[in-house]
This record gives sequence, C-alpha cells and structure tokens, in this order.
Amino acid sequence: MDRIVIEGGTRLAGEVRVSGSKNSTLALIAAALLADGTTILRNVPRLRDIETMLQILEALGVPAGWDPELPSALRIEGGAGVRNPEAPYDLVRKMRASFLVLGPLLARCGTARVSEPGGCAIGVRPVDQHLKGLRALGAKVRLDHGYVDASGPRLRGARVAFDLSTVNGTQNVMMAATLAEGETVLENAAREPEVVDLARTLTRMGADIRGAGTDRIAIRGVSRLAGVEEDVPGDRIEAGTLLAAGIISRGDVRVVGIDPAQQKSVLQKLSEAGAEVSVEADAVRARAADRVRGIRVVTAPYPGFPTDMQAQLMAVLTLASGSSVVTETVFENRFMHVPELRRMGADVTVDGRSAHVRGVPALSGAPVMATDLRASAGLILAGLAARGRTTVSRVYHIDRGYERIEEKLRSLGAVILREG
Ligand code: EPU
Repeated sequence: MDRIVIEGGTRLAGEVRVSGSKNSTLALIAAALLADGTTILRNVPRLRDIETMLQILEALGVPAGWDPELPSALRIEGGAGVRNPEAPYDLVRKMRASFLVLGPLLARCGTARVSEPGGCAIGVRPVDQHLKGLRALGAKVRLDHGYVDASGPRLRGARVAFDLSTVNGTQNVMMAATLAEGETVLENAAREPEVVDLARTLTRMGADIRGAGTDRIAIRGVSRLAGVEEDVPGDRIEAGTLLAAGIISRGDVRVVGIDPAQQKSVLQKLSEAGAEVSVEADAVRARAADRVRGIRVVTAPYPGFPTDMQAQLMAVLTLASGSSVVTETVFENRFMHVPELRRMGADVTVDGRSAHVRGVPALSGAPVMATDLRASAGLILAGLAARGRTTVSRVYHIDRGYERIEEKLRSLGAVILREG
C-alpha cells in the first residue's frame, strides 16, 4: 500500500495552481443526470471520489467517463439512459456523496433506490434532511433493508425548512425541485460555494433558481433541462491546504486558480495567526517568516471557518507561540488527527468539541496513519515542518480529495515522495 514520505524542514516557496473543486464536481456529475443530452465538465480533478461517482453512473446505465480528447474533462450522457435507478451499497458505502444521485433519479425516473450511506469516520452523518425535503415535494420515501426507496411520479413544489445547514441535503433537494411542478422554497439552505456552483450549472441547463448563496433558495420547476459544457471552479479547500503548507514551513506560497472571496474566513484566521496574506483577482499569497501565534477558531457552515480546513489549521497551530483552542461544531468526531499529531510531539488535548493546542517549538518526524481525507492533509503539513522523516500511511484517504498532492508540494520545494 502506498505511503507518503516527507523529509521535513524545507521552506516552501513559489506558485501553485489548484485543481477543480472535488465537492462541486461530485454534485455536477449528479446534476448531469437531470439533463437531456450530454454534459461536459472541464477542469475536473483526477481523484478516487470522482472515479467512484463515475462508477455509480455506470451502474445506473449512464455512459460517463473521461473525454479522450479534452484534458481533465468528463463527458456524461444525460439521465434518459438510466436503465436501473438503483445505487448499490457497494458503491455508496465507499463515498457518501453518491447519495446525491437520489434527487436527480427521483426527478427523472419517478423512482429511485439508493443505499443509505451510513456513518463514516468523522461522524454519524444522517440523511434525514435530504429525505424530509424530498417528502415535502411529494415523494414517498421508505427505508428498506438499508436502502432508501423513493417514488414520486409527479413531484410538486413545496416549502422546505431545513432543521440545520446541510450542503448535500440542499443540493439533493434543489436538484429534485428543478423538474417538479411549481415553486419550491428552501429555507435555512446551505450557502457554501458548492451550492452556488451547482445552481449556476443547473440554471445554464435551463433551471429557474434564485437566491443560491443565501439561506433562502427559490426554484421554479421546468419541464426539461439540457446538457451543458461547464468549467469546474478551483478547489477552495485544496487552496487553503496549500497556503497552510506554506505557512507551516515558514515559507511564501502563491496559490492561483481560486476565488479569494471564498477564502475569507480561512485568510482571516491565517492573518490573525500572524501570516502575511495578500489577495489578487484569482490568487492568494501567504507568507510567514516567524512562528505563528495561537488563536481561537470555531468551525461553522459557510461563510464560517470550514470544517474541511480544521485539521490543516490545527497542524499549523501546533507550532505556534502560545495556545490555541480549535472548536469543531459541524462533525462530532473530527479530531482523529490529534493522536497522530501528538506522536509527532504536538501538545494537544481534546475536551468534548474543543481541542486545546499548546504550541511547541518543534515537531519530530514519525510514522503516522491517515484516518480520513482532511486529517491526512493535516499530517502531511505537520510532516513538512517536522524535524526528520515522517511517513504517512493509508494514503488512499488523501487520494480521495487531493490531486497529485506530493507533486504540487515538491514543485514548491518540499522533499516528499510516494512509496509503493
Ligand atoms: N446532517 C444531518 N442530517 C442530514 C444532513 C446532514 O444531521 O440530513 C448533519 C451532518 O451529520 C453534519 C452536518 O449536518 O453534522 C453538516 O453536514 P452536511 O450535510 O453539510 O455535509 P455533507 O453535505 O454531507 C459536505 C462535503 C464535506 C464537508 C461538509 C461540510 C461533499 C461531497 N462533502 O458534506 O466534505 O465537510 O459538506 O462543509 O460536498 C470533505 O471534502 O472532506 C468533506 C467531508
């Protein structure tokens, strides 16, 4: 099994381009099922999670795959070809985002059977809000032997008030509503950029959606949607991770191919910790000549500080002067990087939803184990700054969400390689 080996202690410097957003792409692949005709997505990252989503479409009978003529592009035939609206357990269990096909399948086929995703390493992660929304649109939803069975030959627009902010829940119900009769209003909708990206693409397909990016989204159903060609925007979490890599190494990194407006909460925390941050039209540069300072950070739905950057920021704060408190409010079990960071000499204790991080002057390289995608990113960052060699095993977690991470870090001067 692959491992990533890092010789810590080099200062990262230079410019790096981010790949397309993983989480936007996953929703856009599901959205392609709503269209008549072919959808082409460009700037798609080559990641395990994307491959899993393509396998789901294949299982549904929809031809979908990498375009042989265009670089980093997917070609997805529309949902008219769905032969069997069922997403099997074996694929859904690999990646929860596969549950995003439920709304489009229901809207297209009037019926869908999708395995319940179950919990995962970072938390229980129920799907009750997805189901609440689809039921409000008139679908009959029943749980049957670990599967969600949904039927609704004629979905009707309705008011859906989510009990909490859910990104994929908002996306799933929004997609179903595009082909429902009449108007749907989503209240307490998630405001994440990935929801806005999805709404923009659906609108280009012919959907009538207003308010994406606010907590109230109105969708007027239309009778059909058409395939489109779309560029996937840059990945805001990859961008934040690469900036944090620069800072933890006391380097100077410029990340290009992003919308800096989406990075506000992350940049604010990096500045508060003492990094020098400058923003351009589609790039951000962050420098840190000295030790960063301890800060307080609380994860929250967008525009708050993203839970997907919590492990990476914590890695940076392990080396701060002074103490930090990192509070995780989105997922209940997202501190699995803490025991691994401690093995590298970090001084972190977890107390309920908060981690208390007392900065240490140096980390020491160690063999560590990745437990989930963002935790493994945090460990790689710690390895970049640690004295000596760090070996991160279970690299498949990182391959779910970071495209060629070791090459990108190497291009900035890191001493990092992958061992088979
Ligand atoms: N929740 C419920 N009921 C629901 C849905 C969600 O209780 O029906 C809870 C969750 O258990 C969690 C909270 O609501 O405690 C927020 O979860 P959300 O639904 O927003 O998460 P998600 O849509 O399943 C997406 C990203 C995650 C990211 C979260 C939060 C994708 C494919 N995944 O998940 O990305 O952490 O939003 O921003 O878009 C990652 O990329 O590493 C990743 C985990």
